[in-house]
Amino acid sequence: MLIFRQTLCLGHDLIVCLMGSLTLVGGDPGVGKSTLLLQIAAMITEECNDSEASPVVYVSGEESVEQIGNRADRLGITEDIYLYSSNDIEDILKKVQYLAPRALVIDSIQTVYLKGIMGSPGGIMQVKECTSALLRFAKTTNIPVLLIGHVTKSGDIAGPRVLEHIVDVVLYMEGEKYSTHRMLRAVKNRFGSTDELGVFEMSHSGLQAVSNASEMFLSEQHLDSEILAGLAVAVIMDGSRTFLIEIQALCLSGSTGSRQVNGIHANRADMIISVLIKQAGLRLQENAVFLNVVSGLTLTETAGDLAIAAAICSSFLEVPIPNEIAFIGEIGLGGELRMVPRMEKRVYTVAKLGYRMCIVPKTAEKTLGNEGLEKMTLVGCRNLKEVIYTVFPKVGDVPWVRRWEPAWIWVR
Ligand code: TYD
Ligand code: MG
Repeated sequence: MLIFRQTLCLGHDLIVCLMGSLTLVGGDPGVGKSTLLLQIAAMITEECNDSEASPVVYVSGEESVEQIGNRADRLGITEDIYLYSSNDIEDILKKVQYLAPRALVIDSIQTVYLKGIMGSPGGIMQVKECTSALLRFAKTTNIPVLLIGHVTKSGDIAGPRVLEHIVDVVLYMEGEKYSTHRMLRAVKNRFGSTDELGVFEMSHSGLQAVSNASEMFLSEQHLDSEILAGLAVAVIMDGSRTFLIEIQALCLSGSTGSRQVNGIHANRADMIISVLIKQAGLRLQENAVFLNVVSGLTLTETAGDLAIAAAICSSFLEVPIPNEIAFIGEIGLGGELRMVPRMEKRVYTVAKLGYRMCIVPKTAEKTLGNEGLEKMTLVGCRNLKEVIYTVFPKVGDVPWVRRWEPAWIWVR
Protein backbone atom coordinates (compact mmCIF):
# COMPACT_ATOMS: atom_id res chain seq x y z
CA MET A 1 0.00 0.00 0.00
CA LEU A 2 1.38 3.38 -0.93
CA ILE A 3 0.44 6.49 0.90
CA PHE A 4 1.65 9.90 -0.17
CA ARG A 5 2.63 12.19 2.61
CA GLN A 6 5.26 14.77 3.48
CA THR A 7 6.63 17.07 0.81
CA LEU A 8 3.89 16.79 -1.72
CA CYS A 9 1.11 15.98 0.67
CA LEU A 10 -2.31 15.64 -0.86
CA GLY A 11 -4.36 17.17 1.85
CA HIS A 12 -3.36 15.64 5.16
CA ASP A 13 -3.51 11.94 4.48
CA LEU A 14 -5.44 11.40 1.31
CA ILE A 15 -4.72 7.95 0.02
CA VAL A 16 -4.67 7.94 -3.74
CA CYS A 17 -2.61 4.98 -4.65
CA LEU A 18 -3.63 1.64 -3.24
CA MET A 19 -2.45 -1.59 -4.79
CA GLY A 20 -4.49 -2.44 -7.84
CA SER A 21 -6.34 0.86 -7.86
CA LEU A 22 -7.12 3.11 -10.81
CA THR A 23 -6.94 6.83 -10.08
CA LEU A 24 -8.01 9.51 -12.50
CA VAL A 25 -6.43 12.95 -12.24
CA GLY A 26 -8.51 15.41 -14.23
CA GLY A 27 -8.13 19.09 -14.92
CA ASP A 28 -7.90 21.78 -17.56
CA PRO A 29 -5.03 21.55 -20.02
CA GLY A 30 -1.98 23.31 -18.61
CA VAL A 31 -3.11 23.23 -14.99
CA GLY A 32 -0.18 21.02 -13.95
CA LYS A 33 -1.36 17.40 -14.12
CA SER A 34 1.76 16.04 -15.83
CA THR A 35 3.95 17.95 -13.41
CA LEU A 36 2.06 16.57 -10.41
CA LEU A 37 2.20 12.98 -11.60
CA LEU A 38 5.86 13.15 -12.47
CA GLN A 39 6.54 14.41 -8.96
CA ILE A 40 4.31 11.69 -7.51
CA ALA A 41 6.16 9.09 -9.60
CA ALA A 42 9.41 10.32 -8.06
CA MET A 43 7.91 10.18 -4.57
CA ILE A 44 6.69 6.62 -5.00
CA THR A 45 10.12 5.58 -6.24
CA GLU A 46 11.76 7.32 -3.30
CA GLU A 47 9.43 5.73 -0.76
CA CYS A 48 10.13 2.24 -2.06
CA ASN A 49 13.88 2.52 -1.94
CA ASP A 50 14.65 -1.15 -1.50
CA SER A 51 16.78 -2.21 -4.41
CA GLU A 52 14.43 -5.01 -5.48
CA ALA A 53 11.57 -2.67 -6.28
CA SER A 54 11.15 -1.67 -9.89
CA PRO A 55 10.66 2.02 -10.51
CA VAL A 56 7.49 3.69 -11.63
CA VAL A 57 6.69 3.68 -15.34
CA TYR A 58 5.55 7.02 -16.79
CA VAL A 59 3.97 6.66 -20.22
CA SER A 60 3.19 9.71 -22.26
CA GLY A 61 1.20 9.78 -25.46
CA GLU A 62 1.67 13.54 -25.65
CA GLU A 63 5.36 14.08 -25.14
CA SER A 64 8.51 12.32 -26.27
CA VAL A 65 10.77 10.56 -23.78
CA GLU A 66 13.26 13.46 -24.15
CA GLN A 67 10.60 16.01 -23.30
CA ILE A 68 9.49 14.13 -20.18
CA GLY A 69 13.13 13.66 -19.23
CA ASN A 70 13.78 17.39 -19.60
CA ARG A 71 10.80 18.17 -17.44
CA ALA A 72 12.02 15.70 -14.80
CA ASP A 73 15.43 17.41 -14.87
CA ARG A 74 13.78 20.82 -14.44
CA LEU A 75 11.85 19.45 -11.48
CA GLY A 76 15.10 18.27 -9.94
CA ILE A 77 13.99 14.63 -10.00
CA THR A 78 16.90 12.32 -9.42
CA GLU A 79 15.00 9.10 -8.83
CA ASP A 80 14.95 6.45 -11.55
CA ILE A 81 11.67 6.51 -13.41
CA TYR A 82 11.06 4.51 -16.57
CA LEU A 83 9.84 6.81 -19.29
CA TYR A 84 8.02 5.58 -22.34
CA SER A 85 6.21 7.28 -25.17
CA SER A 86 3.41 5.36 -26.84
CA ASN A 87 -0.26 5.58 -27.77
CA ASP A 88 -1.04 1.90 -28.11
CA ILE A 89 -2.58 0.54 -24.90
CA GLU A 90 -1.83 -3.09 -25.75
CA ASP A 91 1.82 -2.27 -26.39
CA ILE A 92 2.02 -0.21 -23.19
CA LEU A 93 0.42 -2.84 -20.97
CA LYS A 94 2.53 -5.66 -22.42
CA LYS A 95 5.75 -3.78 -21.68
CA VAL A 96 4.59 -2.61 -18.25
CA GLN A 97 3.47 -6.10 -17.19
CA TYR A 98 6.93 -7.37 -17.99
CA LEU A 99 8.56 -4.60 -15.92
CA ALA A 100 6.14 -5.07 -12.97
CA PRO A 101 6.65 -1.52 -11.70
CA ARG A 102 5.51 0.04 -8.42
CA ALA A 103 3.00 2.16 -10.28
CA LEU A 104 2.02 3.12 -13.79
CA VAL A 105 1.24 6.65 -14.97
CA ILE A 106 -0.64 7.16 -18.24
CA ASP A 107 -0.51 10.70 -19.64
CA SER A 108 -3.20 11.04 -20.96
CA ILE A 109 -6.31 8.95 -21.55
CA GLN A 110 -7.17 11.14 -24.54
CA THR A 111 -4.02 10.11 -26.40
CA VAL A 112 -4.15 6.33 -26.07
CA TYR A 113 -6.13 3.85 -28.17
CA LEU A 114 -7.07 0.21 -28.23
CA LYS A 115 -6.83 -1.62 -31.54
CA GLY A 116 -10.11 -2.96 -32.83
CA ILE A 117 -12.22 -0.31 -31.12
CA MET A 118 -14.04 2.22 -33.23
CA GLY A 119 -13.06 5.85 -33.25
CA SER A 120 -9.92 7.89 -32.89
CA PRO A 121 -8.01 8.41 -29.62
CA GLY A 122 -9.97 10.75 -27.37
CA GLY A 123 -13.31 9.56 -28.77
CA ILE A 124 -15.84 8.37 -26.24
CA MET A 125 -15.59 4.66 -27.16
CA GLN A 126 -11.81 4.69 -27.11
CA VAL A 127 -11.64 6.56 -23.84
CA LYS A 128 -14.09 4.18 -22.15
CA GLU A 129 -12.54 1.00 -23.50
CA CYS A 130 -8.98 2.11 -22.72
CA THR A 131 -9.98 2.99 -19.18
CA SER A 132 -11.69 -0.39 -18.73
CA ALA A 133 -8.56 -2.10 -20.04
CA LEU A 134 -6.45 -0.16 -17.55
CA LEU A 135 -8.83 -1.09 -14.74
CA ARG A 136 -8.58 -4.79 -15.65
CA PHE A 137 -4.81 -4.44 -15.79
CA ALA A 138 -4.68 -2.78 -12.35
CA LYS A 139 -6.91 -5.44 -10.78
CA THR A 140 -5.15 -8.44 -12.29
CA THR A 141 -1.56 -7.27 -11.76
CA ASN A 142 -2.12 -5.30 -8.53
CA ILE A 143 -0.15 -2.43 -10.06
CA PRO A 144 -1.69 0.94 -9.19
CA VAL A 145 -2.50 3.02 -12.26
CA LEU A 146 -2.64 6.80 -12.29
CA LEU A 147 -4.44 8.17 -15.28
CA ILE A 148 -4.43 11.77 -16.52
CA GLY A 149 -7.53 13.14 -18.23
CA HIS A 150 -8.02 16.60 -19.70
CA VAL A 151 -11.32 18.24 -18.95
CA THR A 152 -12.64 19.61 -22.18
CA LYS A 153 -15.63 21.80 -22.77
CA SER A 154 -16.28 20.78 -26.37
CA GLY A 155 -18.32 17.66 -27.00
CA ASP A 156 -16.12 15.89 -29.54
CA ILE A 157 -13.39 14.79 -27.15
CA ALA A 158 -14.63 12.69 -24.26
CA GLY A 159 -13.80 14.38 -21.01
CA PRO A 160 -12.88 12.43 -17.89
CA ARG A 161 -16.38 12.82 -16.50
CA VAL A 162 -17.62 9.81 -18.46
CA LEU A 163 -14.94 7.77 -16.72
CA GLU A 164 -15.81 8.66 -13.18
CA HIS A 165 -17.90 5.54 -12.58
CA ILE A 166 -15.23 3.22 -13.96
CA VAL A 167 -12.27 4.35 -11.86
CA ASP A 168 -11.71 3.98 -8.10
CA VAL A 169 -10.55 7.50 -7.29
CA VAL A 170 -11.17 10.78 -9.08
CA LEU A 171 -9.04 13.80 -8.29
CA TYR A 172 -9.51 17.16 -9.96
CA MET A 173 -6.83 19.76 -10.20
CA GLU A 174 -7.99 23.33 -10.28
CA GLY A 175 -6.33 26.70 -10.48
CA GLU A 176 -7.16 30.25 -11.38
CA LYS A 177 -5.69 31.37 -14.68
CA TYR A 178 -3.39 34.03 -13.28
CA SER A 179 -2.68 32.47 -9.92
CA THR A 180 0.07 30.05 -9.04
CA HIS A 181 -2.12 28.23 -6.53
CA ARG A 182 -3.40 24.79 -7.46
CA MET A 183 -6.01 22.78 -5.59
CA LEU A 184 -6.33 19.03 -5.79
CA ARG A 185 -9.79 17.91 -4.87
CA ALA A 186 -11.05 14.36 -4.36
CA VAL A 187 -14.48 14.02 -5.96
CA LYS A 188 -14.70 10.25 -5.73
CA ASN A 189 -12.78 7.93 -3.46
CA ARG A 190 -13.61 4.25 -3.07
CA PHE A 191 -11.02 3.96 -0.30
CA GLY A 192 -11.78 6.88 1.95
CA SER A 193 -13.09 10.37 2.35
CA THR A 194 -13.59 12.93 -0.40
CA ASP A 195 -13.48 15.62 2.21
CA GLU A 196 -9.88 16.51 1.47
CA LEU A 197 -8.17 19.21 -0.45
CA GLY A 198 -4.52 19.42 -1.43
CA VAL A 199 -3.19 22.96 -1.80
CA PHE A 200 -0.10 23.60 -3.89
CA GLU A 201 1.85 26.38 -5.44
CA MET A 202 3.27 26.04 -8.95
CA SER A 203 6.86 27.22 -8.74
CA HIS A 204 9.71 27.15 -11.24
CA SER A 205 10.64 23.78 -9.79
CA GLY A 206 7.20 22.21 -9.88
CA LEU A 207 4.41 21.94 -7.36
CA GLN A 208 5.10 22.65 -3.72
CA ALA A 209 2.65 21.97 -0.91
CA VAL A 210 1.46 25.22 0.66
CA SER A 211 2.12 25.11 4.38
CA ASN A 212 0.13 28.16 5.47
CA ALA A 213 -2.85 27.41 3.24
CA SER A 214 -5.36 29.01 5.59
CA GLU A 215 -3.77 32.40 5.08
CA MET A 216 -2.89 32.22 1.42
CA PHE A 217 -5.84 34.31 0.24
CA LEU A 218 -5.04 37.26 2.49
CA SER A 219 -3.32 40.11 0.70
CA GLU A 220 -0.12 41.62 2.02
CA GLN A 221 -1.79 44.96 2.62
CA HIS A 222 -4.15 43.24 4.94
CA LEU A 223 -1.46 41.59 6.98
CA ASP A 224 0.70 44.71 7.14
CA SER A 225 -1.60 47.65 7.63
CA GLU A 226 -4.48 48.82 9.67
CA ILE A 227 -5.06 51.99 7.76
CA LEU A 228 -7.41 50.88 5.03
CA ALA A 229 -11.10 51.08 5.72
CA GLY A 230 -13.37 48.54 4.02
CA LEU A 231 -11.44 45.32 4.64
CA ALA A 232 -12.73 42.40 6.68
CA VAL A 233 -11.66 38.78 7.04
CA ALA A 234 -14.12 35.94 6.46
CA VAL A 235 -13.54 32.31 7.39
CA ILE A 236 -14.70 29.80 4.81
CA MET A 237 -14.46 26.03 4.44
CA ASP A 238 -13.55 24.02 1.39
CA GLY A 239 -13.70 20.30 2.00
CA SER A 240 -12.15 19.91 5.41
CA ARG A 241 -9.88 22.93 4.96
CA THR A 242 -10.40 26.33 6.47
CA PHE A 243 -9.41 29.46 4.59
CA LEU A 244 -9.30 33.05 5.69
CA ILE A 245 -10.28 35.34 2.88
CA GLU A 246 -10.33 39.06 2.61
CA ILE A 247 -13.51 40.90 1.66
CA GLN A 248 -13.16 44.43 0.35
CA ALA A 249 -15.90 47.03 0.27
CA LEU A 250 -15.96 50.54 -1.11
CA CYS A 251 -18.89 52.82 -0.36
CA LEU A 252 -19.09 55.98 -2.40
CA SER A 253 -21.49 58.59 -1.08
CA GLY A 254 -23.46 61.03 -3.21
CA SER A 255 -23.95 58.37 -5.83
CA THR A 256 -26.93 56.60 -7.34
CA GLY A 257 -26.91 53.56 -5.12
CA SER A 258 -25.46 51.22 -7.71
CA ARG A 259 -23.93 47.87 -6.71
CA GLN A 260 -20.92 46.16 -8.25
CA VAL A 261 -19.91 42.78 -6.91
CA ASN A 262 -17.00 40.53 -7.68
CA GLY A 263 -16.75 37.08 -6.08
CA ILE A 264 -20.02 37.46 -4.15
CA HIS A 265 -23.47 36.54 -5.42
CA ALA A 266 -25.27 39.76 -6.31
CA ASN A 267 -28.50 38.68 -4.58
CA ARG A 268 -26.69 37.93 -1.35
CA ALA A 269 -24.87 41.27 -1.48
CA ASP A 270 -28.18 43.09 -2.07
CA MET A 271 -29.74 41.31 0.86
CA ILE A 272 -26.89 42.18 3.21
CA ILE A 273 -26.92 45.84 2.13
CA SER A 274 -30.71 46.02 2.62
CA VAL A 275 -30.40 44.46 6.08
CA LEU A 276 -27.68 46.97 6.99
CA ILE A 277 -29.99 49.80 5.92
CA LYS A 278 -33.11 48.51 7.60
CA GLN A 279 -31.88 46.70 10.68
CA ALA A 280 -28.61 48.48 11.50
CA GLY A 281 -29.59 52.00 10.48
CA LEU A 282 -26.79 52.56 7.97
CA ARG A 283 -27.71 55.17 5.36
CA LEU A 284 -26.40 53.27 2.42
CA GLN A 285 -29.23 54.24 0.08
CA GLU A 286 -27.33 57.01 -1.65
CA ASN A 287 -24.08 55.11 -1.77
CA ALA A 288 -22.56 53.18 -4.61
CA VAL A 289 -21.28 49.94 -3.05
CA PHE A 290 -18.46 47.92 -4.58
CA LEU A 291 -17.64 44.51 -3.16
CA ASN A 292 -14.68 42.33 -3.99
CA VAL A 293 -13.28 39.03 -2.79
CA VAL A 294 -9.49 39.10 -2.94
CA SER A 295 -7.71 36.37 -4.99
CA GLY A 296 -10.51 35.91 -7.48
CA LEU A 297 -12.39 33.43 -5.30
CA THR A 298 -16.15 33.19 -5.32
CA LEU A 299 -17.83 33.09 -1.96
CA THR A 300 -20.47 30.38 -1.91
CA GLU A 301 -21.05 30.05 1.81
CA THR A 302 -23.31 32.21 3.92
CA ALA A 303 -20.62 32.06 6.63
CA GLY A 304 -19.04 35.03 4.85
CA ASP A 305 -22.12 37.28 5.33
CA LEU A 306 -20.83 38.88 8.48
CA ALA A 307 -17.45 39.79 6.99
CA ILE A 308 -19.22 41.33 3.98
CA ALA A 309 -21.40 43.42 6.31
CA ALA A 310 -18.38 44.41 8.41
CA ALA A 311 -16.39 45.46 5.34
CA ILE A 312 -19.32 47.60 4.13
CA CYS A 313 -19.68 49.21 7.57
CA SER A 314 -15.96 49.90 7.74
CA SER A 315 -15.89 51.62 4.37
CA PHE A 316 -19.12 53.50 5.02
CA LEU A 317 -17.96 54.75 8.41
CA GLU A 318 -14.42 55.24 7.15
CA VAL A 319 -13.10 53.38 10.17
CA PRO A 320 -10.59 50.57 9.50
CA ILE A 321 -11.12 47.23 11.18
CA PRO A 322 -8.10 46.12 13.21
CA ASN A 323 -6.46 43.38 11.18
CA GLU A 324 -6.54 40.89 14.02
CA ILE A 325 -10.30 40.45 13.88
CA ALA A 326 -12.05 37.73 11.87
CA PHE A 327 -15.78 37.36 11.26
CA ILE A 328 -17.91 34.22 11.04
CA GLY A 329 -21.66 34.15 10.67
CA GLU A 330 -24.72 34.15 8.49
CA ILE A 331 -27.01 37.16 8.51
CA GLY A 332 -30.79 36.81 8.63
CA LEU A 333 -33.33 39.32 7.37
CA GLY A 334 -33.87 40.62 10.90
CA GLY A 335 -30.18 41.54 11.13
CA GLU A 336 -29.68 38.56 13.45
CA LEU A 337 -26.53 36.45 13.33
CA ARG A 338 -26.93 32.76 12.64
CA MET A 339 -24.78 29.71 13.21
CA VAL A 340 -22.95 28.11 10.30
CA PRO A 341 -21.64 24.54 9.96
CA ARG A 342 -18.26 23.59 11.41
CA MET A 343 -18.07 26.65 13.60
CA GLU A 344 -15.58 25.00 15.92
CA LYS A 345 -13.09 24.20 13.18
CA ARG A 346 -13.29 27.73 11.79
CA VAL A 347 -12.82 29.37 15.18
CA TYR A 348 -9.82 27.21 16.09
CA THR A 349 -8.14 27.99 12.78
CA VAL A 350 -8.55 31.71 13.46
CA ALA A 351 -7.12 31.27 16.97
CA LYS A 352 -4.20 29.23 15.68
CA LEU A 353 -3.28 31.97 13.24
CA GLY A 354 -2.87 34.42 16.10
CA TYR A 355 -5.99 36.52 15.65
CA ARG A 356 -6.94 38.55 18.67
CA MET A 357 -10.68 38.52 18.23
CA CYS A 358 -13.29 36.50 16.37
CA ILE A 359 -16.83 37.79 16.03
CA VAL A 360 -19.39 34.97 15.94
CA PRO A 361 -23.12 34.53 16.52
CA LYS A 362 -24.08 34.53 20.21
CA THR A 363 -25.18 30.89 20.06
CA ALA A 364 -21.72 29.88 18.87
CA GLU A 365 -20.03 31.68 21.74
CA LYS A 366 -22.16 29.74 24.20
CA THR A 367 -21.50 26.34 22.67
CA LEU A 368 -17.79 26.68 22.01
CA GLY A 369 -16.44 27.48 25.46
CA ASN A 370 -12.91 28.75 25.99
CA GLU A 371 -10.70 25.73 25.69
CA GLY A 372 -7.83 26.40 23.28
CA LEU A 373 -8.97 29.98 22.87
CA GLU A 374 -6.98 31.56 25.70
CA LYS A 375 -5.20 34.05 23.44
CA MET A 376 -8.23 35.06 21.41
CA THR A 377 -11.42 36.75 22.50
CA LEU A 378 -14.48 35.09 21.11
CA VAL A 379 -17.19 37.72 20.91
CA GLY A 380 -20.73 36.47 20.45
CA CYS A 381 -23.18 38.98 19.00
CA ARG A 382 -26.90 38.60 18.57
CA ASN A 383 -27.25 40.99 15.66
CA LEU A 384 -25.51 43.47 13.39
CA LYS A 385 -25.90 46.38 15.77
CA GLU A 386 -23.99 44.52 18.44
CA VAL A 387 -21.28 43.80 15.89
CA ILE A 388 -21.03 47.46 14.93
CA TYR A 389 -20.77 48.55 18.57
CA THR A 390 -18.09 45.94 19.20
CA VAL A 391 -15.94 46.63 16.16
CA PHE A 392 -16.51 50.37 15.81
CA PRO A 393 -17.02 51.46 19.43
CA LYS A 394 -16.98 55.15 18.51
CA VAL A 395 -19.77 54.75 16.00
CA GLY A 396 -22.08 56.92 18.08
CA ASP A 397 -19.94 59.93 17.17
CA VAL A 398 -20.40 59.38 13.49
CA PRO A 399 -23.18 61.59 12.17
CA TRP A 400 -24.06 59.46 9.13
CA VAL A 401 -25.61 56.74 11.19
CA ARG A 402 -29.28 57.19 12.06
CA ARG A 403 -28.44 57.04 15.74
CA TRP A 404 -31.26 59.15 17.13
CA GLU A 405 -34.11 57.26 15.55
CA PRO A 406 -35.81 54.68 17.72
CA ALA A 407 -34.56 51.72 15.72
CA TRP A 408 -30.99 52.68 16.48
CA ILE A 409 -31.38 53.18 20.22
CA TRP A 410 -30.23 50.05 21.77
CA VAL A 411 -28.84 49.30 25.19
CA ARG A 412 -25.63 47.33 25.32
P1 TYD B 1 1.68 20.65 -17.12
O1 TYD B 1 2.02 19.74 -16.00
O2 TYD B 1 2.28 20.36 -18.44
O3 TYD B 1 0.10 20.76 -17.28
P2 TYD B 1 -0.95 19.67 -17.83
O4 TYD B 1 -0.28 18.34 -17.85
O5 TYD B 1 -2.09 19.75 -16.86
O6 TYD B 1 -1.38 20.10 -19.18
O7 TYD B 1 2.10 22.11 -16.61
C1 TYD B 1 1.56 23.23 -17.20
C2 TYD B 1 2.18 24.51 -16.78
O8 TYD B 1 2.90 24.49 -15.57
C3 TYD B 1 3.13 25.00 -17.82
O9 TYD B 1 2.46 25.95 -18.60
C4 TYD B 1 4.26 25.61 -17.11
C5 TYD B 1 3.97 25.39 -15.66
N1 TYD B 1 5.12 24.84 -14.95
C6 TYD B 1 5.73 25.62 -13.97
O10 TYD B 1 5.33 26.74 -13.71
N2 TYD B 1 6.79 25.09 -13.28
C7 TYD B 1 7.27 23.85 -13.54
O11 TYD B 1 8.23 23.43 -12.88
C8 TYD B 1 6.65 23.09 -14.56
C9 TYD B 1 7.17 21.72 -14.89
C10 TYD B 1 5.58 23.61 -15.23
MG1 MG C 1 0.28 17.26 -19.58
